[in-house]
Amino acid sequence: MMRIAVLAGDGIGPEVTDEAVRVLEALDLPDLALLHGAVGAAAWREHGHPLPPATLDLARGSDAVLFGAVGDPACDHLERHLRPEQAVLGLRAQLGLFANLRPATTFAGLEDMSALRPEIARQIDLLIVRELNGDVYFGDKGTRTTDDGRREGWDMMSYAEDEVRRIAHVGFRAARGRSKHLTSVDKANVLETSQLWRDVVIEVAAEYPDITLDHLYVDNAAMQMVKSPGQFDVIVTGNLFGDILSDQASMCVGSIGLLASASLGQRQTGHGTFGLYEPIHGSAPDIAGQGKANPMAAILSAAMMLRHSFGLDVQAMRIEAAVGQALADGIRGGDLGGTLGTAAVGAAVRERL
Ligand code: IPM
Ligand code: MG
Repeated sequence: MMRIAVLAGDGIGPEVTDEAVRVLEALDLPDLALLHGAVGAAAWREHGHPLPPATLDLARGSDAVLFGAVGDPACDHLERHLRPEQAVLGLRAQLGLFANLRPATTFAGLEDMSALRPEIARQIDLLIVRELNGDVYFGDKGTRTTDDGRREGWDMMSYAEDEVRRIAHVGFRAARGRSKHLTSVDKANVLETSQLWRDVVIEVAAEYPDITLDHLYVDNAAMQMVKSPGQFDVIVTGNLFGDILSDQASMCVGSIGLLASASLGQRQTGHGTFGLYEPIHGSAPDIAGQGKANPMAAILSAAMMLRHSFGLDVQAMRIEAAVGQALADGIRGGDLGGTLGTAAVGAAVRERL
């Protein structure tokens, strides 16, 4: 039995997740159990918490989580621990999902959609390996008033060496399966956290003599990504820098509606590695409920799920090929300058499976 927790969440989450589920169903997988749970603002409204215990239990008891999006401007006034974003941060932390894989590859025929010139966009084939359980995201934080009456907000940034080491290994192993080039991104010229990061990555590199390692400061990396993205194969970086660079990478590809992600930990199930799979785009409240969102990122996330959590590489490739074919055939949602809605794009992908 393949037990998949489906946490669609807020905004466009339910619309795009629905299409991803329909693609999975169209594959006729044996013993597919889809278990739906409440998460995000939707869960807060219904149960008073963005990540209710029942949802966490559901995720824990499943082989993989198919996640939509969380976030709702109506919740911006809530105390931080009740805000929808805490649901995905809580799942990442509670489930030990420390390795976030965010591939970014140009699709043939889509070069014109890139924010970059087509001949530069064509080079993009990279994987961002983002650490997901540490950094300034999970450090102590707070607000205070200084002695002279100024309000101050503060967030503690830190990485422990074992946290860096385990994500560095993920980066090196990923590079081994690709073009054997790893770029570690930090801000070691300013931050102690980053200096430790860099030192540990260099230590780990000794175990991977076949991989070419280089280091970039994050500001330079952001510049290089738009200047000559073809130089990147695998990028390994911390939580905050990875968040920012992956959004940037999406616009280099052409739309944030196209980028999928996998969040993995150490836990193995009977089928593969337990993981959470989500499009990187978020809840997009401005277009929620209008049937306009591009479901391709969610569909591609389902493909990543089949690959990493169920070892179903052939089915994963079928989905990826169908999305690629749909794009090559000119299937375009609003995010890509077209007119097709969520359901039409989903149907177009299913027809090409
Ligand atoms: C992402 C998102 C999240 C993050 C938000 C929703 C907390 O931007 O997955 O990239 O910052 O990690
Ligand atoms: Mg983000």
